[in-house]
Amino acid sequence: MDNSVKSGSQNGLAFNPNVAALPPYNAGMNVAVARAISGRTDVARLASNENPDGCSPAVLAALASPALEPWRYADPACATLRAALGRKLAVEPDTIVAGNGSEELIAAVSRAMLVPGAGVVTVVPSFGLHEIEPLAQGAVVTKVAMTDDLGFDLAALEEAIAAGPRVVFLSSPWNPVGPALGRRSLERLIAAVKPGTLLVLDEAYFEFADGSCPDGLEVLRASDIPFVVLRTFSKAYGLAGLRVGYAVCSDAELARVVSAAKTPFNVNAAAQAAAIAALSDEAWVHASVARLRGERSRIAALLQGLGFQVASSQTNFLFFDCGGDSATIASALLQEGIIVKAWRERGYEAYLRVTIGKPADNDRLVGALARVVRQ
Ligand SMILES: Cc1ncc(COP(=O)(O)O)c(C=O)c1O
Repeated sequence: MDNSVKSGSQNGLAFNPNVAALPPYNAGMNVAVARAISGRTDVARLASNENPDGCSPAVLAALASPALEPWRYADPACATLRAALGRKLAVEPDTIVAGNGSEELIAAVSRAMLVPGAGVVTVVPSFGLHEIEPLAQGAVVTKVAMTDDLGFDLAALEEAIAAGPRVVFLSSPWNPVGPALGRRSLERLIAAVKPGTLLVLDEAYFEFADGSCPDGLEVLRASDIPFVVLRTFSKAYGLAGLRVGYAVCSDAELARVVSAAKTPFNVNAAAQAAAIAALSDEAWVHASVARLRGERSRIAALLQGLGFQVASSQTNFLFFDCGGDSATIASALLQEGIIVKAWRERGYEAYLRVTIGKPADNDRLVGALARVVRQ
């Protein structure tokens, strides 16, 4: 019997040791728990990078339409959604895979590409699943730290990528820090990729970036390396609760294997209908993003006024060193009915990530932070 596989199990079951040993995903706090702890009903939810503006009325109409037949299985190929995305992005629909959120596609890419011992490169601090999903496949993950001025360490990333990992996971704009890779920087990293490496560029926050941030899909399509670009309807489009994201792959064969690694009926009927409706109302997204970008600048300036060094952000959140244990500060904010995310990766425990919410909630956060840090 293989004792190493059984280790850690107290009930005699032989767990997959890679999965049993996974670090927990640091999810935002449930609102009901936050209400119970704070005793407030008006909880400000500033931890999960959702869109405080909601979603397009076209989405709500699609969800209420009799055309939505919940008793039927949805199209496992997501053909209508993929065709709409193909038109929007000017790519072949057979290079697109739709997922139950882009997080499912991080898992599917990991399953499709990784075997025990395979190398993966990502950054730290990181979006948790860029490490967790490769670890679940038994991969060995190398994490490149951010620079002291809260940016990408390009030289270190180039070196790690040139070492030839099977997969590189990078988010740009970068969760949790905020900046995006400029065109030159992205091209430098692409040039470091050796044959056999897949570059996964996670653009979950793409819509929030300004003109200084390139369209990663466009840059990668102009290159000759294999790639996956991930995008989501959870953030700017406001569909986090419905779970729909997508992968654009460099070729149809890669898309076929990523698709084979997901569950067949992964995107439910409501999610497909909502995403299609959301694409029909880009004006709503543009207006919401414009408001949130303005709010992002306003709150960044207020936080800087409190003395915090705030990372530059092309996203709908801000990341800063709060000068103490961020979990303690997050608990104090929670007492006031404000949920934020205390970063827990080793070396970054002083950092808070706060989502740009409604203006009144953002003001509440700044006021509460000013009180909490002075205590
Ligand atoms: C960088 C990044 N990628 C992927 C995701 C997953 O998003 P979803 O599964 O909701 O599409 C998130 C969510 O926060 C994220 O920040």
